[in-house]
Amino acid sequence: MSYTVGVFVGSLASDSINRKLARALKKLAPPELDLVEIPIAELPLYSRDYDADYPQAGRAFKDAVAAVDALLFVTPEYNRSVPGVLKNAIDWGSRPWGTNSFAKKPSAVTGASPGLISTAVAQQHLRSILSFVNSPELANPECYIHFTDGLIDNDGNVSVPGTAEFLRSWLQEFHIFIVKVVGAQRITI
Ligand code: FNR
Repeated sequence: MSYTVGVFVGSLASDSINRKLARALKKLAPPELDLVEIPIAELPLYSRDYDADYPQAGRAFKDAVAAVDALLFVTPEYNRSVPGVLKNAIDWGSRPWGTNSFAKKPSAVTGASPGLISTAVAQQHLRSILSFVNSPELANPECYIHFTDGLIDNDGNVSVPGTAEFLRSWLQEFHIFIVKVVGAQRITI
């Protein structure tokens, strides 16, 4: 059985190391997982004024989330938290009230930083947000990428075999988690 995984890249930078990581993950994913990016860059800043008549950009984003089986967040850490562009996208998907797009969608979080503790703090903040929007999260293994020069090229090729192997095994764990969560939701009690 195959699953479509919506990928959110939390950086708008043209040379984003997190986009490189997202490309690497697409290459290293097991064949059962099809990783497709859900763009977030063009979303306006969310306001609840939009709730009465959601604009096309918001509806298209919610439709894109509805169309995938699982969610993969690949994000930088900004000032020890989640970049505003990513939080904005989550806010769009969570509304209008009663139509939260993330509910029950299994998710995983990762991110790259040149810093020694990588994106650890941002990932904890993101996990808190995902809990609130009722997305079951892969708790363990965690995936923190300390990005050094040349670790991943623009095409998503990973230069350190141990890192590539770790990412591959992490995605396999995510696959198992998706199978469990989606399978459990099919059970009627
Ligand atoms: C950063 N950076 C950063 N790094 C980190 O490890 N912890 C942090 O809290 C921050 N804070 C921060 C704030 C802002 C506004 C910027 C622009 C940068 C550095 C960051 O990890 C680095 O720029 C990465 O390259 C960002 O990821 P992308 O955009 O290359 O994917």
